[in-house]
Amino acid sequence: MSLLFSPITLREVTIRNRVWVAPMCQYSALGGVPNDWHLVHLGSFARGGAGLVLTEATAVVPEGRISPEDTGIWNDEQQAAWRRIVDFVHDQGATAGIQLAHAGRKASTYSGFTGARGGVPDSDGGWRPVGPSAEPFPGLREDPEPLDRAGVERLVTAFGDAAERAVAAGFDVLEVHAAHGYLLHEFLSPLSNHRDDEYGGSFENRTRLVLEVVQEVRRRVAAGVPLLVRLSATDWVDGGWSADDTVRLAGLLREEGVDLVDTSSGGNVVAQIPVGPGYQVPFAARVRAEAGIPTGAVGKITEPKQAEEILAEGSADVVLLARELLRDPHWPLRAAHELGETEADLWPVQYRRAAP
Ligand SMILES: Cc1cc2nc3c(=O)[nH]c(=O)nc-3n(C[C@H](O)[C@H](O)[C@H](O)COP(=O)(O)O)c2cc1C
Repeated sequence: MSLLFSPITLREVTIRNRVWVAPMCQYSALGGVPNDWHLVHLGSFARGGAGLVLTEATAVVPEGRISPEDTGIWNDEQQAAWRRIVDFVHDQGATAGIQLAHAGRKASTYSGFTGARGGVPDSDGGWRPVGPSAEPFPGLREDPEPLDRAGVERLVTAFGDAAERAVAAGFDVLEVHAAHGYLLHEFLSPLSNHRDDEYGGSFENRTRLVLEVVQEVRRRVAAGVPLLVRLSATDWVDGGWSADDTVRLAGLLREEGVDLVDTSSGGNVVAQIPVGPGYQVPFAARVRAEAGIPTGAVGKITEPKQAEEILAEGSADVVLLARELLRDPHWPLRAAHELGETEADLWPVQYRRAAP
């Protein structure tokens, strides 16, 4: 059996294979409520044979949405709508995961669907974003409000509430989004965090918020629920958040009960990023080797053999795909075929009579 199609168990959840769907914003929800688009979008990956289907960045509070059209998980209506999608994903034999997110200073941004770009003004349904500091992200809302102590506490509680709701909606796996220049990453990086309280300055202070969020989430859900954290391994800028910082934080996350680090990069500041096939894999490899925690590799993974090789060389425990799965939601079925796997179990029952 290939490594790609061998199951993986995290806590009490066994996932059928190691081809996971990377989170992908769809900017298609009204009032944070996922709809038929999300059902078909996420459902197609489950039908296509993926192991874990992760939702898009799903906001834990309304002001934590990137665009006004982001999904959320802060009320009963959203929870019920997610349940329908989770049930379908389960029916296809896949595992359902949700990415819990807060966009921080990058909130209240146009999706781009209508041609409008940049920050959404209050007059068009936008809101004042929050961040660690008052400094804006270039080209987005210019007025981020630094979170005060009470705001930080509310934020931590909101992640816990969202985690509880996610589990109630049937999600098996939770991922905390601490990458791509959104709120938790903004606190981690010295380039975006200019605070002088206990949440800014030293490494210990900048990592305090993500650790508090993880502790709260762990406290609020059953011990059997796997918890992933997505990190940007580097800001790709001298003086920014670095791979060394990531390794150090990953070790602390492991001690707090995080089960896997989903290792991405960038997004917090404008940077030159050497994008190419598997360009973020070395970060996943370092975290896995040096922090002793399972990792997911993501970024420009497109070929079944490439994915198998990443696992075989010990760089990661799973791979996450985004754009290649948009090109072909049945990529896992094709990959299983190319790797010489017994495919029948992966095919939906409706297709199985025709399975090779
Ligand atoms: C349409 C789209 C939406 C995305 N939305 C998110 C998101 O909600 N959360 C996140 O962590 N990453 C998001 N990403 C980044 C992907 O999860 C992934 O890390 C990135 O696309 C690199 O993988 P790829 O080369 O396989 O596309 C998005 C990517 C795409 C293409």
